[in-house]
Order: sequence, then structure tokens, then C-alpha cells
Amino acid sequence: MDQFKGQPRLPKFAVPKRYDIHLIPDLNTCQFTGSVSIDLHIVETTRFIVLNAAELSIDNRSVSLAAKSSSKVFEPTKVELVEDDEILVLEFSENLPVGMGVLAIGFEGVLNDKMKGFYRSTYEHNGQKKNMAVTQFEPADARRCFPCWDEPACKATFKITLDVPSELVALSNMPVIEEKVDGHQKTVSYQESPIMSTYLVAVVIGLFDYVEDHTSDGIKVRVYCQVGKADQGKFALYVAVKTLELYKEYFAVPYSLPKLDMIAIPDFAAGAMENYGLVTYRETALLYDDKHSAAANKQRVATVVAHELAHQWFGNLVTMEWWTHLWLNEGFATWVSYLATDSLFPEWKIWTQFLDESTEGLRLDGLAESHPIEVDINHAREIDEIFDAISYRKGASVIRMLQSYLGAEVFQRSLASYIKRYACSNAKTEDLWAALEEGSGEPVNKLMNSWTKQKGYPVVAVKVKEQKLEFEQSQFLSSGSPGEGQWIVPITLCCGSYDVHKNFLLQNKSETLNIKEFLGCSISKEGDNAACTWIKLNVNQSGFYRVKYDEDLAAKLRSAIEKKNLSETDRFGILDDSFALCMARQLSLTSLLNLMGSYREETEYTVVSNLISISYKVLRIVADARPELLDYVKQFFICLFQYSAERLGWDPKQGESHLDAMLRGEILGALALFGHDGTLNEASKRFHAFLEDRNTPLLPPDLRKAVYVAVMQKVSSSDRSGYESLLRVYRETDLSQEKTRILGSLASCTDVNIILEVLNFILSSEVRSQDVVFGLAVSREGRETAWKWLKDNWDHISKTWGSGFLITRFVSAIVSPFASFEKAAEIEEFFATRSKPSIARTLKQSLERVHINAKWVQNVQNEEHLAEAVKELAFRKY
Ligand code: BES
Ligand code: ZN
Repeated sequence: MDQFKGQPRLPKFAVPKRYDIHLIPDLNTCQFTGSVSIDLHIVETTRFIVLNAAELSIDNRSVSLAAKSSSKVFEPTKVELVEDDEILVLEFSENLPVGMGVLAIGFEGVLNDKMKGFYRSTYEHNGQKKNMAVTQFEPADARRCFPCWDEPACKATFKITLDVPSELVALSNMPVIEEKVDGHQKTVSYQESPIMSTYLVAVVIGLFDYVEDHTSDGIKVRVYCQVGKADQGKFALYVAVKTLELYKEYFAVPYSLPKLDMIAIPDFAAGAMENYGLVTYRETALLYDDKHSAAANKQRVATVVAHELAHQWFGNLVTMEWWTHLWLNEGFATWVSYLATDSLFPEWKIWTQFLDESTEGLRLDGLAESHPIEVDINHAREIDEIFDAISYRKGASVIRMLQSYLGAEVFQRSLASYIKRYACSNAKTEDLWAALEEGSGEPVNKLMNSWTKQKGYPVVAVKVKEQKLEFEQSQFLSSGSPGEGQWIVPITLCCGSYDVHKNFLLQNKSETLNIKEFLGCSISKEGDNAACTWIKLNVNQSGFYRVKYDEDLAAKLRSAIEKKNLSETDRFGILDDSFALCMARQLSLTSLLNLMGSYREETEYTVVSNLISISYKVLRIVADARPELLDYVKQFFICLFQYSAERLGWDPKQGESHLDAMLRGEILGALALFGHDGTLNEASKRFHAFLEDRNTPLLPPDLRKAVYVAVMQKVSSSDRSGYESLLRVYRETDLSQEKTRILGSLASCTDVNIILEVLNFILSSEVRSQDVVFGLAVSREGRETAWKWLKDNWDHISKTWGSGFLITRFVSAIVSPFASFEKAAEIEEFFATRSKPSIARTLKQSLERVHINAKWVQNVQNEEHLAEAVKELAFRKY
């Protein structure tokens, strides 16, 4: 049977059609027993049946195969569970007949504490600690709950039965058809599901309350929460009902199950999981508390719900054929969730905020250690790491690019026909392209292959030369090295006004266009009315590429920004591209800082928010490269953000926008980090009022994170009071969003002893293992301490988080901030004996970032005139 080992996919001698699963979990001993009988179609004569199973003990004597045609029961001569390959191989003494058969298997397992497979999560009820039983099967952990063909293309129907304590709520994908109570236990059976993949099967058992509503076509929707918190489910319920109605129109297919349940789970590795008909969430991604949740929390709930519900069509009804096409699920759900959120909350300008997704995609894909959107998967262990910014964010961004190239209507119509064609089945990337190609008549496959089959993206350099426009593409790498890639780039441009709009496909390395013929105007000096004053490529940032302008075009754009002639998305794009070019050492820091100066009067949330994150990164580089300039740069940033700070003030204004509410927190948080005295003092005052009264209007939820950060700036080994108070608030609150805010601010402190205490605190039993990653937002001063701590605790960390994807966050958060070649070498040496497949990619990417930082630091050290420029900016009078 060695021929079955080391294979990426199961042999298909037999394929499952229907599973009848019976599970009996014991929530006290945290063990479960189960049995499954699987209707199979044996498609070729074979002595073997190979399916997936892992961490289960199989009752060998229970295994049998009843062949329908011969009415004969076969018992295997050998039953082997190959743990390394997570397969169960059944060997029979004679050939099994082609046709239908029923495979029966009995097994036992443990409700683990790793947040995957069939696991336990803990909660308190009336002061008592309790366990609930939860499943999380994506990508490949259904095999940890019952033996199965655990691949997305092996779709079957599922008939589930549970034996549970009679006082508990027991949920699964489908509605209950029967509940038989027998003393303290009950047997709950559910309707048989439509055909679906194993990774979407789900079960949750515990004590819950719920709120309920119906869609206009009668689908029952519920949000389940911890007992006593049902009110916090109302907002998600509203979003879910509206979103289901919207998707029914958009995809032109109704939601396919009779009910939808959504439930908050206290211990949850990801943000949420789209199980068919039973969507599971982290508490922070589902619950919204009127008094204590922030605007950003509300937005998170809406987008996560919209994302998971998009999967009910894109993923659950039509499923990727293999994990190589994971991006079809995740990229699409991400993109569609913006469509839904925009329709429900237009005032959130969510499509502008989408640029945060694109920029994260561009950031990761600017590394040589990135990967193509369509990526080879050869082992289940490799799947976890591709739930990354490439599959989600680059995926969503190239879809947005394609939609804006083809037009919204054609796009929607073609999508609807794709969904109809592949409903209850599986699809590959090229199947989607074929549907879009048919619908639009455009060569979609050829265009898109250049974006999904190779990693990276282009930077388009644009120059004006003697009334000609020259375009040249080359692969953009943050390291500044040249890359090899070439793309078919949908170029869009505007000239002087958004009414003068042109586009073409850049198919070659370069292209030269005659300005007069192409644009119908000339580019010349100011004052010439017939001439266009500025040219902006990648209009509204709908393309997944960067643009580098020649000096003259860049100057015209700077002035257009100051005159507020450009859209917010374009203002974002110019800033973001300039920052990327600066990191890649193609633009001086002096130029970047000058450009940042033109954004002083910027009021748009997404643009200012990006300006803030860029300023954080600049400060870190300056601290390494030119520490003597640090205070001046901080002074400049304080000045830069003063305009927004004054506009927004500390107290929410009546009827203000959602975006202003979010921006206020970010601006004040930034000023606190730059050490602005006024902000620190006011924060202190308000924090004290909050300690007296948790409902004080002086500290609304939108301000809390900023104030906590400010409080931590004043904490030191000799004055620990702010830290102790925050820990007290952490211990007292039962709202996870509050806990997350506090965890996210603790390590922003500058005192290394306190940072070490914080890092040890996040490993304690007071912090759920799902939440540790929030505590890893360590200040610049704490970088070295965090690295030493990671080394000292690696064995424990690796043991506790090593089987999931959270371990990658430890590596990226702690390694990436460094900026020297020596450090990179030291880190590499440490991991030489400790790396493993599940962190290999992240480690390489983080080390590449350290190298990029190191080169950037060298560049900034050698930058002439930086000191004068910084001083001028710091003392500029407005
Ligand atoms: N399918 C994923 C959940 C998932 C993530 C399973 C990683 C296995 C590994 C789900 O649809 C998802 O994408 N969740 C996101 C939230 C979403 C709004 C981007 C998450 O968990 O972060
Ligand atoms: Zn998803």
C-alpha cells in the first residue's frame, strides 16, 4: 500500500455520494465517539479504499463494506491509518465490485484545544466554566472528526445525528427534523443537506441565546450569542437578512438552504467561517454592542458577515476544484463583500476603503518571496499559508480591475451564468474566465493569466518627451531589484479633468503615444487653457499596479492635490505609490516627506489613515538611519496631523459621519505615539474619568484605543499605574472588542521591562490563545526584547500555536520590524533548525522585509539634504 503514501490527492477508486454521520461528544471528558456510513460509488475494480482520517482511533472491527450489487459484506484484511499523510487505507482480500456500496466505520477522538477539527471552546455560565463543542474544518480538518474524502471536489450529501446533553443547543448545517429526549441526553437529527464539500460541514453544541428574523422570501435567519448577549446580535442579523436578499438578486440564484444560523464562538482561530447554513464567527466579528463597540467594530461586523454570506454562493454552491483555486473563494468573497456593504452603508465609502486591501496585496506581492494567485498545493500542510494577502487582497483587486475593464453589467450577467452553470459542482479559474469571455467577447483568459499565473505586478513608468507619452512596464519589487515579469496592463488615464478619460491595453514592455492624437490636447505650461495640467494614470486606482511619473508630471500632480482637483482614490494612489517607490529606493525620503506635506488639509478617512500608517513606517526607518532627526520628523508629523485633529476635536459631533468617528481615534492615536503633550495629557484626564465610570461620555468607544495607547506612552517601570489600570479594565470587561483594544495597546509602551511583562502576560491563561497576536504590536523600543522573548519561548509557542496559522503571526510581527543584515543573519540561524513547512513561507517573506529595510536605511543614511528638508518641514508655518 506504499503507492498511496506521499500523494497530494486521494486516488479515486471509489467516490462518496452520501454520508450518514452520528457523533456523541462528551463535554466533560472532552472525548467523542462516532460512526459514519458512507454511500460510495466504486468506479473501478479495486482491493483498496483510501480516504482521509487523522488523530482518530479507528475501531478496526467496525469497518465493513456492503456491496449493493452482490448483497455481500466485505471486511478489510488490513486497516492502516498513515498519520503523516492523514489517510486511512483499507485493504481487502478480494476485488470489490464496481457499483454502489456502503462503507461503515466506527471511531473515537478528542475534543482538542487547537481550534481545528472537532474542538472545545470555553465560556462562563452563571459563574461556572463550561465547554462547548465546535467544528472548524477548512481547509482540511473534517478528517479529524470523521473519516471522509476530505477534498473540495468530493461533494456529497450529509445526514447528521448528534447525541448531546438535553439542556444544550445543538446546531448543524441543516434544520432539525427530530429531537428525542431520553433523560439527560437527547438525540437530535437534521435534514439531509444538498451536496456539498466536507470542509463546509459544521456542528456547534453549547448554551446560547438567539435573535431571529426572516428574509422576504421566508428564509429563517438567526444569530446565536452567549446567554444574555442576544441584543449584541441584532446588527449582524440586520446585515445578514439584507445581504441574503441582495445576493439573490446579484447572483440571480436564491440562497439554497432553508435556514441560516450565525454564531459567535469564544475561541476561534480565523475571523469567521462560511460553513453552509451555520456560519461561525469570532465574537469581535459578529457582536455589536451599542454602548461599547466602536464604529470600526461595526464596519468589521458588516464586512465579515457580507464576506461569509457571499461564500454561500461563491464557495459553497460553486466550489473550487482544488486549493490552487482558493482565491476564487476568497478573492471573490472579499470583492463581493464590498459590493454588499456599499449598498447597505453608502456613507461608509467602502470602495475607497477597499484601497487598504489593494495596498496590502501590493505590499506582499512586491516581495520576491511572494507566490502566484494560482499556487501549486502538494500537501494539506501547505494550504493554511495561502489564506494570505495574495489570495484575498490581490485576488479581490484583480477582480475589481477586471470588472472595471469589462463593465459592471456584463460582469454581473456573466457571473450569474457561471454560478448557474457550476451550481452544486466545482470550478477552476479558467471556468470563470470562460464565462466572462463568453459574456463580454473580450479575451479574458489571456488578459487574466498574466495576473493569476505569475507572481508580482508591474510599475508603469510614464514620461513626456516632445509631445509624446512614453509608457514602460517592469516588475515592481520592494527590494529595488529588477524583476522579470510582464503583464497585459489595462491602462486608464485622465488628463486635466475626469471628463478627459482614455484607456488602452499595454501589452508590450513599452508603448509611445502621440499626445495630440491620443488625448486631443497638449501638455504644456500653466496658463495655456488648451493644455491639460496634469495626467493621472490608473484612474481611481482600479488597476493592480503602481505608477512612476517623471519629475514634471509628478510636480503637476502635487499641485493638483493641493488644489483638491483629484479624487480621493487618486490622492490615495499617488501617496501610496510614492511610499512604495521610496522604500524601493527609487524616490528620496525628502521627496516623500515633501509630498506628505501636501496632504495637510486632507479630510478623507482612507487617505489620512494611509498617511498615518506611512508616517509610522517612516519613523521606524528614521530611528534606525538618522536618529538625530527623529524629533524633527515627529514634530513635522504632529504639525501635519494638527489640521485634522483640530477639525475633529475630542468629542463626537452630533450627526457626524461614521468616517469622522473612525478618523478621530486614528488621529489621536497617532499624536499620542508621536509624543504630543496636549494629546497625552487630555488622554490621561479622560482615562481617569473612565476608570471612575465606564459609561462616561468623555471616553466613547471610538476614542478608547487611542487613549489606551496614550496611557501606555506614560508607563515606565517606576510608574506602572496606567498599565495596572488597563489590566484591571481587561479583567473586568466581558466584551471581546474591549479586550482586543487593550491587548493591542499594551506593547506600544517604550519601557522594555514593561514590554517583557506584557509579552509574558499574553502567554498566560488570562489571554485566550486566539488573541495573543493582538499583543504583538510592539513599539520600536521593544523590538529586541520581543525577539529575545520569542527565542526564549519558542518551544512553548511552537507547541501551542504550531498546528494552526496563528504561529505565522508571531514570526512576521517580531521579525519584520528589523532593519539590518546582521539581524537577518542571526534570525536565519535561529530558525535553521526550527523552521517547519507551516512557517517556511512567512519566515522567508519576513527576512526579505528585513533586507529591504536594511537597504532602505543605508539609502536614507546617505541622503544629502534630508536634514535641511526635515528641519524646514518641522518648523514650517501654515
Ligand atoms: N474561509 C475563511 C475562513 C478560513 C480562514 C478558514 C483561514 C481556514 C483558514 C473565511 O471565509 C474568511 O475568509 N474569513 C476571514 C474574514 C474575512 C472577512 C476576510 C478571516 O477569518 O479572517
Ligand atoms: Zn472567506
